[in-house]
Amino acid sequence: MLIFNKQSLLIEHLTPFWATKTTIGFVPTMGALHEGHLSLLSQSLKENEISVVSIFVNPTQFNNPEDLAKYPRTLERDVEKIASLNTKVLIYAPTVEDIYHGNTVSQSFQYDGLENQMEGKHRPGHFDGVGTIVKRLFEIIKPTHAYFGEKDFQQLQIVKKLVHKNNIPVKVIGCPIHREANGLAMSSRNERLSPIERKESALIFKTLSKAKKLFGMKSAKEISKFVTKTFENHPIIKLEYFEIADEITLRSCLRKSKNKKYRAFIAVFVNNIRLIDTISLN
Ligand code: PAF
Repeated sequence: MLIFNKQSLLIEHLTPFWATKTTIGFVPTMGALHEGHLSLLSQSLKENEISVVSIFVNPTQFNNPEDLAKYPRTLERDVEKIASLNTKVLIYAPTVEDIYHGNTVSQSFQYDGLENQMEGKHRPGHFDGVGTIVKRLFEIIKPTHAYFGEKDFQQLQIVKKLVHKNNIPVKVIGCPIHREANGLAMSSRNERLSPIERKESALIFKTLSKAKKLFGMKSAKEISKFVTKTFENHPIIKLEYFEIADEITLRSCLRKSKNKKYRAFIAVFVNNIRLIDTISLN
C-alpha cells in the first residue's frame, strides 16, 4: 500500500496521472472506516482508473473540543480495511501541519444559505471547516470524481455548492447510507457507543421510517410533534433537532408542495455521543 503523509510526495506521485488525464476517484474520510466508507471506495474503484482515500480528522470542523479529542483514530485498522478491498488504493493521511502549515483556521464560505440550516445552526463554524478541508484536498489531489455519503446530506449539498461556486472540475457523487442490522446509520462515531447505547439507537431510524410513513397523511408540524414526543423522557437519547426540509434549499417545510422533494433530518445525543441521520420522504 502507498501511504502518503506529505502532500508534496502525493503531488509528485499524482503529477503523471494528471498529465495523462487519468480518472481519479477520491473518498475523503476522517478514518475509523466502516462499511459505508468501503462502499464509497468500491464505487470509486469501479468508476475510476485510480482511487485516493484521505484519512484526516480535520480540527477546524469541530465546534466541540471534547468531540474532537474523542473522535476515534484507528489508522492501522483503516489501512488494513482498505488493503482488503484493493492494495492499489493511494492513502493520504496527513498531519495537521501538512494541511494547515501552522495556521489551523477555517476560511469563511457562503453556500447560498445552505450553511444556516440544521447542522449549521447547531454546530457554528462547522461548514466553514468542512469547506476549508474539502477545497484544500481537492486542490491537492485534483480528483475527477469525489464520493460522499448521503448520511451527511447537508454536507453533500454544501460540497456540491462549493464545487459549483468555485468552478472546481470534479464530479461530486452522493452514495446511499449503509445501516447496521438494527437500522442505525453507519458512522465512525458509532465506535464510541456501548452495546446498550447501540441497541437503543435503533430508535433513530425507526422514528425516521415512521415519519416517512406519516408524510403522506400528516403535516410537517404534526410529524415533528410525533418525533418530539417519541424521544421525550427517553433515558439515554436526547433529541437535538428534527426537521422536514426541501432537499434542494434545505429550508424547513412549512406547507408541503407537490413538485418538491423533501427529506427528514434528525440529530440526537446518545448520552454525550452526537448522531445524525436522514431519510427521503417522497
Ligand atoms: O464526512 C466527513 O467525514 C468529513 O466531514 C470530511 C468530508 C472527510 C471532511 O473532513
